[in-house]
Amino acid sequence: MDHFQDRPGPTGAPELWCEDVPLAEIAEAVGTPVYVYSTATLERHFTVFRDALQAAMPGRRLLVAYAVKANSNLAVIRTLARLGAGADTVSEGEIRRALAAGVPPERIVFSGVGKTDAELAFAIDQGVCEINVEAEAELERLAAIAEARGARPAIAIRVNPDVGAGGHAKISTGKAESKFGVSFSEARRLYARAAASPFLRPVGVACHIGSQITDLAPLEAAFTRMRGLVEDLRREGLSVERLDLGGGLGVPYFDAPEAPPLPSIYAAMVARVLDGLDIDLAFEPGRLIVANAGVLVATAIHVHRRAEGRSFLVVDAAMNDLLRPTLYEAYHGIRPVRSGNGAPEEAMDVVGPVCETGDTFARDRPLPPMAAGDLVAFQSAGAYGASMSSEYNSRPLIPEVLVSGDRFSVIRRRPTFEEMLAREPLPDWLG
Ligand code: LLP
Repeated sequence: MDHFQDRPGPTGAPELWCEDVPLAEIAEAVGTPVYVYSTATLERHFTVFRDALQAAMPGRRLLVAYAVKANSNLAVIRTLARLGAGADTVSEGEIRRALAAGVPPERIVFSGVGKTDAELAFAIDQGVCEINVEAEAELERLAAIAEARGARPAIAIRVNPDVGAGGHAKISTGKAESKFGVSFSEARRLYARAAASPFLRPVGVACHIGSQITDLAPLEAAFTRMRGLVEDLRREGLSVERLDLGGGLGVPYFDAPEAPPLPSIYAAMVARVLDGLDIDLAFEPGRLIVANAGVLVATAIHVHRRAEGRSFLVVDAAMNDLLRPTLYEAYHGIRPVRSGNGAPEEAMDVVGPVCETGDTFARDRPLPPMAAGDLVAFQSAGAYGASMSSEYNSRPLIPEVLVSGDRFSVIRRRPTFEEMLAREPLPDWLG
């Protein structure tokens, strides 16, 4: 459930609001394209997920570490941090964001395939609660860095459970051929090695098999294998305090065919798989919390009707603002912010102004009649939208707005063209 609903507009025709603010009012005040997020939806998604897990496993210690990469805006992280969320981070920048947003280090997990020495040192100095080690070479580097700093960081070994899942090949991570994590036999060896080191404190094991997973079976298979690993390690006399089960539970992308399981069904599956195993749990959900808490609002530049053939709705948002459709063939609901008069729909290609055919958000999408200046909402755009945006075609990053009840606030402002150019000093020989 989200808090983007139709309400009667000035002419009586329905128009889309975010909580108690009409999207048209935000577009008027801030300009388009603009990302708009709902505080109530963010809070609801986090709370429903956490409460479902806690209800299924009363008394178990849980850390729900929001995956910052999904939407790394400080105000979004802070909204979640105030509810007790931790942060799953994959770079020094994300750790800094989490800290700046008020996530305490003891709720920050640091993951990632290629953490640099400087990033590992930073994470150690901040005292994050878990550094997820993804390779033997990383374990060695981390031990050396920790020794040099006289520290003993808490680490988990990230295992690749060799289970395929995820909405698209580019976001599936759990198969043995992907670059993530170590095998089960390596995990046992590395865990024992870490336990023997005076500079490392192995606290757990972690996995993450992919994103936009709408079928519980692969998750259940992976979690079952992870339970086996915990039991194996304990049989060898090693202490394992925490099992990090990653993120990945999918969301309904409106008309898209996949129907992800409810958090309560997911939680019941986790409880069943781990029944009788005394261990703390960590989760790293990203998309589940933010995807349907955000829309991208754009303006129609014009409708281009070829004399023979296709019709194109050209909007002022482009692939640099929302990359998912072209990168993953992802589906996003697209609708006018102000509903029309019930005139018949027409199939249109919805495209941006960037000079690439890939800058196409949808093909043959049925839409009511649209005209230049009409506002369009791209739905389910809160996850991996703004956080994956760029300035391709020298289009400045677009603003982000957070709504709470009848208030809204710009939480990332649009840079000026002068600011964009000022980042690029000319060398003196070109001056
Ligand atoms: N934990 C780890 C280690 C991850 O790599 C990811 C996502 C997550 C947690 C959060 O997964 P989520 O709950 O959001 O599914 N840009 C792509 C998605 C990439 C996901 C990368 N890793 C997209 O727009 O679909």
